[in-house]
Amino acid sequence: MILILDLGSKCSRFLGRSIRKSKVYCEIVPYSYSIEKIKGKNPEGIIISGGKPNEMISIEKFDKQIFDLGVPILAIGYGADIMVEIYGGSSVKPKEFSYNFENVDVVTESLLFDGLGENVSLWLNKQYAFKTIPNGFNPIAKYEDKVIAIENKENKRYGVMFHPEIKNSIEGKNIIDNFLFKICNCDKKWTMEQFIEYSIEEIRMQVGDKKALCALSGGVDSSVAAVLVHKAIGDNLVCVFVDHGLLRKNEREQVEKVFKDHFKMNLIVVDAKERFLNKLKGVTDPEQKRKIIGEEFIRVFEEEQKKLTNIHFLVQGTIYPDVIESGIDGKVAVKSHHNVGGLPEDIDFELIEPLRQLFKDEVREVGRLLGISEDIVNRQPFPGPGLGVRVLGEITEEKLEIVREADYIFRDEIKKAGLQDKIWQYFAALPDVKSVGVTDGKRTYNYTIALRAVNSIDGMTAEWAKIPLEVLEKISNRIVNEVEHVNRVVYDITNKPPATIEWE
Ligand code: XMP
Repeated sequence: MILILDLGSKCSRFLGRSIRKSKVYCEIVPYSYSIEKIKGKNPEGIIISGGKPNEMISIEKFDKQIFDLGVPILAIGYGADIMVEIYGGSSVKPKEFSYNFENVDVVTESLLFDGLGENVSLWLNKQYAFKTIPNGFNPIAKYEDKVIAIENKENKRYGVMFHPEIKNSIEGKNIIDNFLFKICNCDKKWTMEQFIEYSIEEIRMQVGDKKALCALSGGVDSSVAAVLVHKAIGDNLVCVFVDHGLLRKNEREQVEKVFKDHFKMNLIVVDAKERFLNKLKGVTDPEQKRKIIGEEFIRVFEEEQKKLTNIHFLVQGTIYPDVIESGIDGKVAVKSHHNVGGLPEDIDFELIEPLRQLFKDEVREVGRLLGISEDIVNRQPFPGPGLGVRVLGEITEEKLEIVREADYIFRDEIKKAGLQDKIWQYFAALPDVKSVGVTDGKRTYNYTIALRAVNSIDGMTAEWAKIPLEVLEKISNRIVNEVEHVNRVVYDITNKPPATIEWE
């Protein structure tokens, strides 16, 4: 395995995913990870990432013992600064953070550049270079007359001032692969087929003949986790799906069809629509709505759990980004959402989190290999509080029905236009607004539907999607013709920030 010591670079996750795509297992850990833990992982190689502009970590905080480990090390950008200083050298720090693809000359034969020729296009900051090269190291690549890559061949230490890990760098990917396969001698062992096999064994050993419970939301992560655990322990897994009445059209039926009919799983569907709507009656404040929905979910789940006996384990669909989201030095890097799938904290279960090691695309691949349909595997994110945060103001059955139908039409037309894999998230919301319109020469006073569609990587920032106007027109026409009580459709063209993706 390869260990990435993260100094805060925004590319570390992408690097992690790209190494796994090369079929080598890797983990991203904060730079402060203890030397004992690093030894415990027994890595075949270590990559020290670049840093975060304006938030450089002081060299004193870095554990120098890493360089005493007998494993190959590739240090990138700020990671290379630290390495070279520890070895007694120095570098020229850039004053501006301006990067481009530039032509780099390979000046010495090195396994790192093996097979790439003498001139390589790489992503770099022209101002950034090594100044004093430490003893034992040699320059291997230059940009103009500046040294931007060095190696200590004997100890397999590599420092690079360019960024091989960025998304569009083809030669960069070849350099990473050279590090993995020619320097660290990694094998291509990390495949999802193997992951499934090992996980099933592991879950069986962990659970024995005891029982496990899973709160199934119908989202990708909990669905894949549930099917995987079901493969391992069969009917000893009980899944609970809470229908809080805030689901999209046909969602409950789809979950029943997939998990009960197709996978023959032990599925309890709790119809809690009335309970939720009663609790939400008259409530208009978004935060209060979220709180009520979250708490009510816990109550329903607790009641179901009490009806079952002998449950020792709780299955959760935690995935690798959730694990690394705890961030450098344990600081939470991403805002935490109130998730309806979030369960009572005082439940006395042992956790089974079979997807803890996987990135989202790996979770999807596992899902496909397990036979879960594309509809579920490719599902877009859906907030825990469901349509509760898409009906603005007070939630009523009538408003839920309107937003559900409009959302269904929106999704249907996006699918028909072949855009479903090109937009990260898209949905309809119902602002608490009525406006004047005209139908068959008569005045109407009805609701407005807001369409929201965004592209994003992780939901933290987002760009509104440039859906072709003729598709928007079709959607709008269908909504005003087919959904009762709607006479106007608007398209939200705000990025996040300053807007959020959801309207509440
Ligand atoms: P916002 O609206 O904060 O949403 O820009 C970012 C992403 O998170 C989803 N979202 C939630 N997911 N529980 C969830 O599990 C929630 O309470 C919640 N609120 C928003 C939202 O759909 C988008 O993908």
